[in-house]
Amino acid sequence: MTYNVLIINGPNLNMLGMREPDIYGPQTLNDLNQFCIESAEDINMQVSCFQSNHEGELIEKIQTADESFDAIIINAAAYSHTSIALYDALKLCPLPFIEVHLSNIYARDAFRHKSLISPLAKGVLCGFGQIGYSLALTAIKDILVSRED
Ligand code: DQA
Repeated sequence: MTYNVLIINGPNLNMLGMREPDIYGPQTLNDLNQFCIESAEDINMQVSCFQSNHEGELIEKIQTADESFDAIIINAAAYSHTSIALYDALKLCPLPFIEVHLSNIYARDAFRHKSLISPLAKGVLCGFGQIGYSLALTAIKDILVSRED
């Protein structure tokens, strides 16, 4: 069975490559998306990559995600720390999700130490750069496979 995973990237992640490369790495969002597609293929999964700078667009994507996807991997970027609306959308969403951050949010500004959405996530990966997305794919596959048993 091939699982279909929605990868959501939030605000300012379209600027990857130019944005603080010492923190976020040299790869562009296109590079990251391609890396996710290939990582998924390696483990017989499919991904669809979505990025938006707009809170409402992220919420609308989450609201309809269960029509087409089995799970979500989300880097909600700064909205992780601020958005109750995103928390509510993820709470309503029946799909399992994993939260990812490229950087180690606990080694940075205090306002990044709390993510409102973490309590809803199956797990959280941060600080591993783009590899975190690949690890999240492996983890979400394990969760989906064990649900079949
Ligand atoms: C981020 C960490 C957030 O604190 C920040 O606002 C981002 C990116 C990360 O991937 O490390 O935009 O989510």
